[in-house]
Amino acid sequence: MMQFPKLTPLQSRFAATFAATIFVFAFYYIFSTSSGSFAYALDEVDQLTMLRNGAAGEDSMIFEDEYEETRNDAGGQIIKRATVDPNAVSNNEFQMLNIAPGQTQYWVFTKESVLGKPSATPEGLPANITSNSTGQSVINENRRELKKRSNTVYVSLNTCLKPSLNSSNPNATSDTQLPPLTVYISTSSNNKNPGPAGEASLQTTYTADQGYMGATVENADDNVYIGVSAPNTTLWTGIYNYQIAASIDAYFHSVDDDTNLYFIDSDINSALLITNNLTQSDEGSANYRQWMNITPPYTIFANNINDNSISGLERSFCALNQLAQMREGNQAINKSMTNRGLGNKPKEQFYVTYLNSSSHYYGILGMKGNSTASGNGVIGGGGKVWRAMNFTTKAEKNCALLYNLNFCSEVAYAVPSNPNLTSTQLAQIYDQAAQSYYKNFANSLSLIQCNTSSTSMFSLAVNCSDCAKAYKQWLCAVTIPRCYDWTADYAFLKPRNAGQAFLNGTTLPSDNPWVQSPVTNASRNPLIDTEIRPGPYKEILPCTDLCSEMVRTCPSALGFKCPTGKYLNDSYGYRASDGDITCSYLGAAYYLNGAFGLSLPGLDLGLLIAGLWMVFWVAV
Ligand SMILES: *[C@@H]1O[C@H](CO)[C@@H](O)[C@H](O)[C@H]1NC(C)=O
Ligand SMILES: *[C@@H]1O[C@H](CO)[C@@H](O)[C@H](O)[C@H]1NC(C)=O
Ligand SMILES: *[C@@H]1O[C@H](CO)[C@@H](O)[C@H](O)[C@H]1NC(C)=O
Ligand SMILES: *[C@@H]1O[C@H](CO)[C@@H](O)[C@H](O)[C@H]1NC(C)=O
Ligand SMILES: *[C@@H]1O[C@H](CO)[C@@H](O)[C@H](O)[C@H]1NC(C)=O
Ligand SMILES: *[C@@H]1O[C@H](CO)[C@@H](O)[C@H](O)[C@H]1NC(C)=O
Ligand SMILES: *[C@@H]1O[C@H](CO)[C@@H](O)[C@H](O)[C@H]1NC(C)=O
Ligand SMILES: *[C@@H]1O[C@H](CO)[C@@H](O)[C@H](O)[C@H]1NC(C)=O
Ligand SMILES: *[C@@H]1O[C@H](CO)[C@@H](O)[C@H](O)[C@H]1NC(C)=O
Ligand SMILES: *[C@@H]1O[C@H](CO)[C@@H](O)[C@H](O)[C@H]1NC(C)=O
Ligand SMILES: *[C@@H]1O[C@H](CO)[C@@H](O)[C@H](O)[C@H]1NC(C)=O
Ligand SMILES: *[C@@H]1O[C@H](CO)[C@@H](O)[C@H](O)[C@H]1NC(C)=O
Repeated sequence: MMQFPKLTPLQSRFAATFAATIFVFAFYYIFSTSSGSFAYALDEVDQLTMLRNGAAGEDSMIFEDEYEETRNDAGGQIIKRATVDPNAVSNNEFQMLNIAPGQTQYWVFTKESVLGKPSATPEGLPANITSNSTGQSVINENRRELKKRSNTVYVSLNTCLKPSLNSSNPNATSDTQLPPLTVYISTSSNNKNPGPAGEASLQTTYTADQGYMGATVENADDNVYIGVSAPNTTLWTGIYNYQIAASIDAYFHSVDDDTNLYFIDSDINSALLITNNLTQSDEGSANYRQWMNITPPYTIFANNINDNSISGLERSFCALNQLAQMREGNQAINKSMTNRGLGNKPKEQFYVTYLNSSSHYYGILGMKGNSTASGNGVIGGGGKVWRAMNFTTKAEKNCALLYNLNFCSEVAYAVPSNPNLTSTQLAQIYDQAAQSYYKNFANSLSLIQCNTSSTSMFSLAVNCSDCAKAYKQWLCAVTIPRCYDWTADYAFLKPRNAGQAFLNGTTLPSDNPWVQSPVTNASRNPLIDTEIRPGPYKEILPCTDLCSEMVRTCPSALGFKCPTGKYLNDSYGYRASDGDITCSYLGAAYYLNGAFGLSLPGLDLGLLIAGLWMVFWVAV
């Protein structure tokens, strides 16, 4: 049975106070019994958490005959204000409660908790080593004294649920901003109920930003009083729900202003994203292996930009974890560790599915708890959220996202495709073709004296393994073209396969210039038109530097040449300086680096085009 709040006998002495108490009590009763009516929106697990915590909250708000004196500046008279005995939050243990617009709820982090013994520093993730040279990164943890006279207190809040728009208010439209919760913090025993009615000089006010509030109280040595207040509004109806936590170790909930997330590519219903490099240490080092073998520590949330479910709560792990359209909880995410990409450093990749075509999404990196444990008793157990970035899905079915190939392992982008093929079949067709071309090359290369004395070597600066590497990069990029929507018309896109029927059976008229030109009438690789039959599509051409790098590093005996003039522009594209992907290179990620990411430092591409490499290389 539910426990009713206890009223002390003294309260009956004050009619007004008593009336107010009944009012608060009525609110309290309503919200503790109606928790089931909003909980339908939550996952089963979340529901349990919420109900359990709702129940724990029931013995809160015990009224006592305590009064605070507030001096009314205008009249000089003293106003007595009944105080509510605040409910306790303990170290690294969140409390969860519903709050209605206009309400304020009070919490206390007691002196005992404030002066408590800090928890042992947890193991943490493997070190984020930022360069090769540092053998190991030593995190200099200050040895904490067992007993301190004061501590820094970290107070944090996540807004977990928000009210809905008041449909009977004509001013409430889909653009209406959610008014944030406000947190008031007081360290004064003369202000045990910080809030909109509290004495301003005795409290600090913090407004939640996108569902998150984090604040520190330095040198705390006594009770820390916290008020959580929901704004008065008639534009929204229903309740907010929030988690509040305090800790002497670290923020229980945290946020990061970096996105830490890069968009690789998408097709009509899925997208591939990666985290930043998790370490820069060398392949073969213990740190590198630790990261590659770790259970993927991060998670991702994605939400259609036009869908309001997470609007106003983008920095709350608690909200994203139950409201984001795409999240691990609804099986929309597949995550794994990879070392694909520039530098081949460990990173986590996310394959996000169930997306709509031609849609814009927010992508938000997150971490559940400290990545191996979450919830009460865990330092940082409330999770962490990075800043939102955005990405877009494709419009047409004939570009399919391909990644994790065996041979062309650096390929991760959309490729010309046909919905009749499974992704395994598609991967096989492309990867086997590349592998068999490579075999021919490897045979030729083995005939050239590579590893003899430097005088007979073709170049002092490069060797055969550089050549093999450059050849493979180039080969994978030209054998497996990067596909883009036929309907898109960016200048860097090259129409291909215009002579073939679209997937829907229609064909372009035979007098169409793209049908008439041999460059755009077919694919660069005949295998695509015969075995995959994607219909017309557009190609993001391989970057010119892939070809020139191969010519530069490979023995001239192999006879590699890059095309020039018009032929060059029909076959290769140019890198953009703003980080947009305007030509295809392996390991590409959108907006990764503004300038050139690869090779040829100081070498002017204009010079290359002007005539260093003259002859058309037939295989393109
Ligand atoms: C909402 O309005 C009521 C009545 O004016 C006031 O007592 C209460 O403090 C207000 N709440 C907030 C959070 O401002
Ligand atoms: C997470 O917290 C648990 C419990 O405190 C701890 O055992 C574990 O080592 C922590 N994990 C990390 C990655 O810090
Ligand atoms: C890291 O090592 C790689 C090769 O081992 C080298 O090319 C690179 O310059 C090094 N980077 C730093 C920052 O030392
Ligand atoms: C809607 O907004 C207008 C202008 O701010 C205001 O005058 C009016 O009272 C509001 N209506 C309601 C129902 O809140
Ligand atoms: C919704 O809006 C109507 C019209 O402005 C107002 O009368 C009503 O009180 C509002 N409801 C809530 C819960 O604020
Ligand atoms: C690793 O540390 C560097 C430098 O402190 C930082 O810029 C980078 O974001 C960190 N990487 C991750 C994945 O946290
Ligand atoms: C997909 O589109 C439908 C219809 O517009 C929309 O209701 C739904 O929220 C969208 N889903 C996603 C994941 O974008
Ligand atoms: C997730 O990825 C792994 C490894 O690529 C794969 O084996 C698994 O089938 C994928 N699961 C889903 C649901 O896509
Ligand atoms: C990772 O590090 C490499 C250098 O080792 C760098 O080129 C690349 O831009 C970094 N970021 C990502 C996401 O790959
Ligand atoms: C997506 O992000 C880019 C920059 O990161 C920004 O310029 C663009 O406006 C964003 N698009 C949307 C729809 O928010
Ligand atoms: C898919 O296969 C079926 C049966 O072989 C064929 O009729 C259809 O035209 C194919 N669709 C496409 C888009 O190639
Ligand atoms: C067939 O698909 C192409 C490419 O998506 C489109 O341009 C064309 O209008 C479609 N034709 C019909 C009849 O739907």
